[in-house]
Amino acid sequence: MTTQIKTPKPKILVARAIFPEALAKLEESFEVRSNQADQIFTPEELKKELSGVVGALVAGSERIDAAALSQAQNLRVVANISVGYNNFDVPAINAAGVMATNTPDVLTDTTADFGFALLMATARRITESEHWLRGGNWTKWSIINNPLGVDVHHSTIGIIGMGRIGQGIAKRALGFGMKVIYHNRSRLSETDETSYQASYVSKEELLRTADHIVLVLPYTPENHHTIGVKEIALMKPTATLINIARGGIVDDVALAAALKAGKIFAAGLDVFEGEPTVHPELLKLSNVVLAPHIASATEKTRRAMVDLAIENLRAALNGKKPPSLINAEAFKG
Ligand code: DGY
Repeated sequence: MTTQIKTPKPKILVARAIFPEALAKLEESFEVRSNQADQIFTPEELKKELSGVVGALVAGSERIDAAALSQAQNLRVVANISVGYNNFDVPAINAAGVMATNTPDVLTDTTADFGFALLMATARRITESEHWLRGGNWTKWSIINNPLGVDVHHSTIGIIGMGRIGQGIAKRALGFGMKVIYHNRSRLSETDETSYQASYVSKEELLRTADHIVLVLPYTPENHHTIGVKEIALMKPTATLINIARGGIVDDVALAAALKAGKIFAAGLDVFEGEPTVHPELLKLSNVVLAPHIASATEKTRRAMVDLAIENLRAALNGKKPPSLINAEAFKG
């Protein structure tokens, strides 16, 4: 009689709750440490959870740095369920010989839709108007006493960060007859500038001339407080500022003070410094629309993000190049 020796399944960590069907599929191939209760790990817990696993699915709530990796001797891939990866300390991940992946493309249109929705809600004071209505104020309707907004159509949109999502915003802006100006690390090709009818300008010119400013740039130490006191002072008093990029790109304290003093018309924020905590001054203001980092949050897109993260993880563990490998340079040769 022969005894069959079962090979143990490789261990992986799924650090946040994912769709049950996706988890069940993973469990066919892996021994999964899951966190369907969705209690965010402390740094110490994360370090322990990463020890002994060969792969991890994580999100922005998990900071992957040298400390987190210090006991992760078996780890080969860390797959972010997010396109932004400012939660990754890439040099530390490289030093640990771990592949890092993200989820580009699958969320571009959904996120651009949301950027536009936030712009519309901010300029036309939609959430504030709803509160006004719910507060029984409709009887006070008058031509001059509604929450009066600023126009979006035929105004100038200034996009800071003209990657995939920024370009998605530009496409939508054209449908509103807007003039598109942008500022980016590098200029688009002439063909792309022509197709978005977009003009490249300096950051200063953009701040001075745009009616609506949309931030879609990645968070890096160089981009910290891209918008602060000095930048807000350049903006038109009728301008709106929309941040769907990352907290830390805007100095929230400076923004709250400017909104309170009426230095700009309004702001729409999907991301915050230190989120999920929101600066208390922002919470007090009516001229800011606040959203809990939901730009990519449609069911179809969140499923696509989870699926892509899993595809990345499986590829790395099968010795293949993951479709969206961030640190390809570290694995050359
Ligand atoms: C991303 O993918 O970076 C988004 O911010 C997540 O919603």
